[in-house]
Amino acid sequence: MKTESTETQIDTEFLKTLSVLYVEDDEEIRELLSRFLRRWVGTLHTAVNGEEGAQAFHEYHPDVVVTDIKMPVMDGLEMASAIKSTSREVPIIVITAYSERDYFIRAIEIGVDQYVTKPVNTDILLQAIHKSARHRFHKRDMEKAEKLVIDSLEQTIGVLSRAIEMRDPYTDGHQKRVALLATAIAEEMNMPPSIITGIRLGSLVHDVGKIRVPSEILSCPRKLSKTEMDIIRTHLEAGYEILEGATFPWPVARMVVEHHERMDGSGYPKGLKGEEICMEARIIGVADVVEAMTSYRPYRPALGIDAAVEEIRKGRGTLYDPQVVDCCIHVLEKADFKFWD
Ligand SMILES: [Fe+2]
Ligand SMILES: [Fe+2]
Repeated sequence: MKTESTETQIDTEFLKTLSVLYVEDDEEIRELLSRFLRRWVGTLHTAVNGEEGAQAFHEYHPDVVVTDIKMPVMDGLEMASAIKSTSREVPIIVITAYSERDYFIRAIEIGVDQYVTKPVNTDILLQAIHKSARHRFHKRDMEKAEKLVIDSLEQTIGVLSRAIEMRDPYTDGHQKRVALLATAIAEEMNMPPSIITGIRLGSLVHDVGKIRVPSEILSCPRKLSKTEMDIIRTHLEAGYEILEGATFPWPVARMVVEHHERMDGSGYPKGLKGEEICMEARIIGVADVVEAMTSYRPYRPALGIDAAVEEIRKGRGTLYDPQVVDCCIHVLEKADFKFWD
């Protein structure tokens, strides 16, 4: 909770965009301050006690609440507590007499943002409203900007994903289906949403390095020779090289280069073991195997979901992370999981 301050420069245009709820039981003070506030803020709603104030809050969704503390029916702090329980981000300013300082502890616990002392200095009240609203909108703008950045990263990754799939029709949709399964596994593992977003995006480009592999090899209708397999395997480092220069909030380049590593060190390109492989790549690796086995390939028909489950079960703990395998099997057993549209 902030103390009174007179430092802030007031942006009157900004104040005109705000809607404020003012709650005060004393008619004379309410009339006086309302008249003052109406001159400065865009919209003013008033209420005569906490209960009316809480109702008005839910009806009008004001940007800022200004309230007296001692009021009949429901006091200002009870109202503040009710508002904060559903709308934590709404700034609440309490108007208080020095004698009411006992209420401060309660006000802090509730999360009241600022207080203004009685008798009210109108400049100070205006500054408190201005400061609280600025803070709230700044936070909202930052969240919006962050979402915009993530959206544009997703679009960039989507473009990259489509580019590789255009060149390689046999794996058309492969990355998208891997993303679908890897995301479902990560959700089953209760991973935080921001990490799940990274896994989805990493999955969408996990084979981007195949751009370096000649398309005759990618679409070869027979089993590949050792040399051809070695060429295919270069897609990991190629993918890393493509992505390492980009600054993502997730380790996308690592997810890409490590998705064929295996827990016992038998994978490639580096033969990393266990926790040396990032969790995101362990998840994408399992989703990749399951998707590849359930899909048609130029050199073989689709092997089916049972064969894929059998494969990851067999490799549980040796090739694949055991928790990832368990969660993947759970996901595949769920009736609502659909690999194919
Ligand atoms: Fe791959
Ligand atoms: Fe793949």
